[in-house]
Amino acid sequence: MGRTYPLNHWYAIATSAELTDRPLARMICNIPLVMFRDKDGAVAVLEDICPHRKAPLSSGFVVDGAIECGYHGAQFDAQGRCIHIPSQDVIPPRGMTVTRFPALERHDMIFAWIGDDKRATPDGIPDIWSANTDPGWTAVHGYHHVKANYLLVLDNLADLTHLAFVHRSTIGASGRTGWFNNPLRVAIDGDTVRTSRTMRDISPSGFMLMTGRFAPTDRIDRFQTSDFFAPAFFTVVLGGEPAGTQEEMQRPHHIVLNSVTPETEETSHYFWSVCRTAALGDQHITDEMYRLTRLAFDEDADMLERQQQAIRTDRSGRPLMNFQGDQGGAAMRKVIARLIEAETEEQAA
Ligand code: FES
Ligand SMILES: [Fe+2]
Repeated sequence: MGRTYPLNHWYAIATSAELTDRPLARMICNIPLVMFRDKDGAVAVLEDICPHRKAPLSSGFVVDGAIECGYHGAQFDAQGRCIHIPSQDVIPPRGMTVTRFPALERHDMIFAWIGDDKRATPDGIPDIWSANTDPGWTAVHGYHHVKANYLLVLDNLADLTHLAFVHRSTIGASGRTGWFNNPLRVAIDGDTVRTSRTMRDISPSGFMLMTGRFAPTDRIDRFQTSDFFAPAFFTVVLGGEPAGTQEEMQRPHHIVLNSVTPETEETSHYFWSVCRTAALGDQHITDEMYRLTRLAFDEDADMLERQQQAIRTDRSGRPLMNFQGDQGGAAMRKVIARLIEAETEEQAA
């Protein structure tokens, strides 16, 4: 199997809260990276290997905004230039640099550009993260390390018919009707895929009951609009209105922001936020929302890891099959395949 992710893109690599005054190591797209903050607090991302004897830089410390190798103390600045070698005055003129990757910090998330750094553009990150920090929302954040290819995680987000099965005893307990009886609309626009579904005259979701937006006996119309931004960002907007009152529903009750970053071909970093517009600032609801979301994504991760294991030992050689609910996921995979192909052609040219 070839590489399943394109390189010339921004990927989420950490949350802001994770990056303190110590180096943070993380493998992204099969490249070991180390992150740290420079003197001004800006994020620096370097390849996690010291050119001296190839120890991981992340085994060291952050000293005055530079990273100090934990083995013999060589220091590197945010650009990856060696600025100090404790045991000698002279820095070798060649060979003592570390590859650096463009990085950006926005709305409590840290992103890195993994491919050709000359092509990195700040506007390449879709502006979908503001609900993480905007006072009009209350957000909970989480991270799952998933032992499955990132496309399997994206498939899981794109096909919500799994709710009634994977989450039968948690967030999917309210039944299957809404998700099964209403067709999914799919619209592809360049590198984005929008899937949406309207579900009329059904019960409110568990989260809508939790915030007090609706009562258990209410009948409501619900909508779900998911946007995929290739290759690795995925938002799900969920909302509802009293049944029969609105043709076009747009007001979100909550948004799930997802960022799925390949770690290796068979493992992923999954960053998520659930941001709500109701019961703002209510800590009990915030804690409960975090607990339930974490539980649900634990259930997803468990299934995804079993799925990856089954794919690894699959003897059939047959491709994955698509059900109707996979239309969004299939469109998403097509966009990603096109991006990888374009990169491969460029490299060959
Ligand atoms: S291995 Fe890093 S300074 Fe020696
Ligand atoms: Fe799920």
